[in-house]
Amino acid sequence: MEPVKIGLLGLGTVGGGTATVLMRNAEEIARRAGRGIRVDMAAARELERAQELGLTDVRLTENAEEVVNDPDCEVIVELIGGYEPARTLVLQAIENGKHVVTANKALIALHGDEIFKAAQAKGVVVAFEAAVAGGIPIIKALREGLSANEIQWVAGIINGTGNFILTEMRDKGRDFDDVLKEAQELGYAEADPTFDVEGIDAAHKLTILASLAFGIPLQFDACYTEGISKITREDVEYAEELGYRIKHLGVTRRTKKGIELRVHPTLIPENRLIANVDGVMNAVLVMADAVGPTLYYGAGAGAEPTASAVVADIIDVVRTLTSDPENRVPHLAFQPDSLSDIPVLPIEDIKTSYYLRMLAADKAGVLAEVTSILGGAGISIEAVIQKDPKNEKQAEIIMLTHKVREKQMNTAIDKIKALDATFGNITRIRMESLGR
Ligand code: HSE
Repeated sequence: MEPVKIGLLGLGTVGGGTATVLMRNAEEIARRAGRGIRVDMAAARELERAQELGLTDVRLTENAEEVVNDPDCEVIVELIGGYEPARTLVLQAIENGKHVVTANKALIALHGDEIFKAAQAKGVVVAFEAAVAGGIPIIKALREGLSANEIQWVAGIINGTGNFILTEMRDKGRDFDDVLKEAQELGYAEADPTFDVEGIDAAHKLTILASLAFGIPLQFDACYTEGISKITREDVEYAEELGYRIKHLGVTRRTKKGIELRVHPTLIPENRLIANVDGVMNAVLVMADAVGPTLYYGAGAGAEPTASAVVADIIDVVRTLTSDPENRVPHLAFQPDSLSDIPVLPIEDIKTSYYLRMLAADKAGVLAEVTSILGGAGISIEAVIQKDPKNEKQAEIIMLTHKVREKQMNTAIDKIKALDATFGNITRIRMESLGR
């Protein structure tokens, strides 16, 4: 049988990795897919990249539309990234009856509902394993491996760049900017690295995970997003002193009132496996009713780890080329007419424990004032430490609280900030025990 012809859009970090893996493992891949798979046409900004990668016998163009409209390419692999022109190209490929594989989390999180509807109408597959957590097959796990379960919550370290930065800052005392530059050189960071450090990339990925876990439409705009740029070395040290690690976590949880969907720095007990996931590695912890907790760990970014997921999707698509479109695994795990309209909760309505750090006058009665505000708001304190005064008159107070609704915590923080005896901002980091 003739090999399946792939049209590749983009020969950057992931595109290059995909071409390399397809060529290096061609024989093994053909044995798994039941047919050979070859890149027949590729679009790239710099065509010499094809030669560098050893891509011979491939038709090259700078115009991605030519690939999407080429009659010979059966599967289009979109590795350009970003919202546009990726959206237009993918919709055009679908319109042309081609299957699509993409690593584009921004595209799926924002335009996935539109894209899947178009794919459904045309009977083609849109596969996106590489969009979340790089090489970890978490989409396959949620969509297929865990499909017997009611998923209760998902918590993940799903941005490799952010985790790499936090780890290097903690272990080596390196500066934020210096580590970010290295992450860019290694091909981990997004084109706009604020997407990594401000949590937008993780919010794209969490939006996708929430849909797969709970059968809800993709709702990126409802995701609460907070980055790591305000975390200080002191916060990292104090958290460790209290037995916690700070990780940039995406959390989505089913509650009676709705779905929590949030990305923010989070204190996690240091004895949890996920608290010890370092560097560019990602991990996703899933709590489900039948199986209990399962943890998925692996490289979350980089050329070949991401290519591993892209090529696995290509193999899946090739395997399904002959199967009836009505009997394929649904794009978002649940049948399209069975999605739930359970609401995503605003951040003010979520309940967590908190780490608080504040600068206060070092004199009698100040701690009592703070604890009385917290007590008055029904907020119970789990631990308090006071660090050596910054100067003769000021001390840093660090507190851990029990669970409280965010709205109540906001009111209490405003009252504490208004005290004469406290100075400046109050740092608040949410905490998750990640137990059952
Ligand atoms: N910028 C992303 C990260 C790449 O650092 O995780 C993988 O999606």
